[in-house]
Amino acid sequence: MSKLNERKVAVVGCGFVGSASAFALMESGLFSEMVLIDVNKDKAEGEALDISHGLPFAKPMSIYAGDYKDAGDAAVVVVTAGAGQKPGETRLDLVKKNVGIFKSIIPEITKYNKDGILLIVANPVDILTSVAAKLSGFPENRVFGSGTVLDTARFKYLLGEHLDVDSRSVHAFIIGEHGDSEIAAWSSANVSGIPINDFCEMRGHFEHEKSMKRIAEDVKNSAYGIIEKKGATYYGIAMSVRRICEAIIRDEKSILPISSIQHGDFGIDGVALSMPAIVGRNGVEGSVPIRLSDDEKAALKASGDTLKQVLEEAF
Ligand SMILES: NC(=O)c1ccc[n+]([C@@H]2O[C@H](COP(=O)([O-])OP(=O)(O)OC[C@H]3O[C@@H](n4cnc5c(N)ncnc54)[C@H](O)[C@@H]3O)[C@@H](O)[C@H]2O)c1
Repeated sequence: MSKLNERKVAVVGCGFVGSASAFALMESGLFSEMVLIDVNKDKAEGEALDISHGLPFAKPMSIYAGDYKDAGDAAVVVVTAGAGQKPGETRLDLVKKNVGIFKSIIPEITKYNKDGILLIVANPVDILTSVAAKLSGFPENRVFGSGTVLDTARFKYLLGEHLDVDSRSVHAFIIGEHGDSEIAAWSSANVSGIPINDFCEMRGHFEHEKSMKRIAEDVKNSAYGIIEKKGATYYGIAMSVRRICEAIIRDEKSILPISSIQHGDFGIDGVALSMPAIVGRNGVEGSVPIRLSDDEKAALKASGDTLKQVLEEAF
């Protein structure tokens, strides 16, 4: 059994998402050691050097390019390796390519690291989380995906803009698939305890249905829009990775919509998708069954069914 270094993180895949996440993790001060791993060793080495040059403005830390053996004692292994979404391609289109990559990298990670947490970020993140759980044999609390943490951040940001209020005071979740079948959980959304529709009216917005539809669509399509304009998305997900690692390493027991294997809630079983969950040092420490309307429940079930079908076809 590998003994874990609580202050160590490994990032597998050093493309846009991996390097931006590594940068955010360096700035966070959460870790004192970070190993970067990529099939393209030069890329990992270049990123390790570039990010290290910011250290005099942050906190001391050892950042280096390495291999899977170096990740053996990492408390958290962040997996971003995989092909990115091409313009016009859905996340599910990526599935076969990235399942193949996971079949080669997950066994390499678990050969050396038996006790860490696997945080899956590569897309389609829900499918790859299910695949990583099977390939690793890790207990399910220690294998989960970034899920809709990013989509939820986009949701809060857009609601904050719409209502002219600090997005941190907005409590709302995107749940289900990180992708086209995701659900904006309006029925539980609130601003510091005030139901969302009441707060909208306080701010002079009365066309609830129309605004809800527009904002949910904007959240869902934001990745497509950014990819169209700049080829990839990485800053928002980097902050999401940092936030999840913070909840783990500081044992915060924060409620975050990470993607984890479901066991029957809302009729969804045996596939990973996002529901609010308590995240702490043991990874996923419990689910938080938020209240949903009948329409939201039906949409969530449909999202689970879609994912299950893709998982069965791909793995
Ligand atoms: N979960 C989210 O919210 C979210 C957000 C944005 C992007 N993503 C996903 O993250 C993944 C990475 O995106 P990106 O923009 O960084 O792509 P990228 O092409 O820039 O980087 C991918 C990296 O993975 C490496 N890689 C490929 N195969 C590997 C292997 N077998 N072993 C080790 N490294 C390997 C490549 O060399 C490359 O450096 C994609 O699947 C993308 O869709 C997820």
